[in-house]
Amino acid sequence: MARTIIANGTVVTATDRVPADVLVEDEKIVALAAPGSHDWTADETIDAAGKYVIPGGIDVHTHMELPFGGTFASDTFETGSRAAAWGGTTTIVDFAVQSRGRGLMEGYEAWREKADGNCAIDYGFHLIISDVNEQTLKEMDTAVEEGVTSFKMFMAYPGVFYSDDGQIFRAMQKAAENGSTIMMHAENGIAIDVLVEQALQRGETDPIYHGIVRKSILEGEATHRAIKLAELAGAPLYIVHLSALEALEEVTIARDQDLNVFAETCPQYLLLGLDDLGNGFEGAKYVCSPPLRDWEAGHQEELWRGLRGNDLQVISTDHCPFCMDEFDGLIAQKRLGEGDFSKIPNGMPGVEPRMELIYQAGVAEGRISLNRWVELCSTAPAKMFGLYPQKGTIAVGSDADIVIFDPNKAKTISVENQHMRVDYSAYEGWEVSGTVDTVLSRGRKIVADGEYLGDKSHGRYLARGTNQYVH
Ligand code: URP
Ligand code: ZN
Ligand code: ZN
Repeated sequence: MARTIIANGTVVTATDRVPADVLVEDEKIVALAAPGSHDWTADETIDAAGKYVIPGGIDVHTHMELPFGGTFASDTFETGSRAAAWGGTTTIVDFAVQSRGRGLMEGYEAWREKADGNCAIDYGFHLIISDVNEQTLKEMDTAVEEGVTSFKMFMAYPGVFYSDDGQIFRAMQKAAENGSTIMMHAENGIAIDVLVEQALQRGETDPIYHGIVRKSILEGEATHRAIKLAELAGAPLYIVHLSALEALEEVTIARDQDLNVFAETCPQYLLLGLDDLGNGFEGAKYVCSPPLRDWEAGHQEELWRGLRGNDLQVISTDHCPFCMDEFDGLIAQKRLGEGDFSKIPNGMPGVEPRMELIYQAGVAEGRISLNRWVELCSTAPAKMFGLYPQKGTIAVGSDADIVIFDPNKAKTISVENQHMRVDYSAYEGWEVSGTVDTVLSRGRKIVADGEYLGDKSHGRYLARGTNQYVH
């Protein structure tokens, strides 16, 4: 039996902030006590004086190896999970994809094959539904039995992942029956495609037009429609990567009506803006959907308000990296869209800096409390996706997924010191005042003293329960 004591730190959970020692036995937290008040012995004592001891980050929106836009997201489960660990994330929930014309469970099996034995941290899956039919609907039940309790659908990307309202409604009816949650990419893709075509006809081909044609009003409209369909079907609904104040308004109204409607946003929508899509083709680094929003319209400030007031419950990353230039054996993926912004693979890297970025912009700069940071990045994702209290807190009986975070150790974010498999950082040169110091995954030290100590076979598949916020 391996015993570790994390001594002299300040334990921070979603609700508490207390000086406490933490005793870990093998994979679990087995005791908490006031420093110096116990006679525990251990194989190793980690001194956390002056540091926060928080539950490991949980990123419930990643796309390792996602096939998209004629290429694949550049991080594999091996490289992406290692980068996540470096950044203090100890669990990911990734999106397995049902290919058109194939079964839902085939997608699940394919993603298990990619991840099993190749993931440094624990992992679960949502399933992307690309094709609603009788078989898919039946397989939603099988998926739930396997611990896949959430299904992503798209009102965007016609001809790729898009589902029409009837297909969405049928899947929602099934979700209402089996207790799962429908996750929605809420943008009106049909109207957006008209605007894309018209922009290209005018010769507007640069990345900035990606941000201009994907109007925030069309995210608001799709969010409204998704909420109404879910209300009628009686299904829980989770809006993914919410970026626009119009969409937040719809979620706020629904929550005020006591509906089971939830939403996440991502660091890029809080910290970056439409102007990042400018500067010629450099803006391709920032092409993701929904797009980064105009600062002047006030989306970012509204999102912070939503996070404070719990109209937004989760911060995930939508980690979906593509390289700008040839890198590590990969092609210049973003350049597939040179001369036509609609062909730029959609997505940005983000799994690694999430905890530090949100600590900086949220806690250090006074937008959210320390407890809310832990809640948004770990506890609420665990509850939303049926992993709590195994994950998402520091408590007796919970997995020893623990991050020791140093609030006084600054660093500069850069492509030079990151670990994601991509040739740029969207936050190049940004200063953060607190950083991840030590990371434990189920009791095992996987990052310490500036070194990676994990391995790709450590992560375990998590069969998840259903959404613990549903009432
Ligand atoms: O641009 C994005 N968001 N790429 C990943 C796919 C998705 O829609 O989440
Ligand atoms: Zn999406
Ligand atoms: Zn995504």
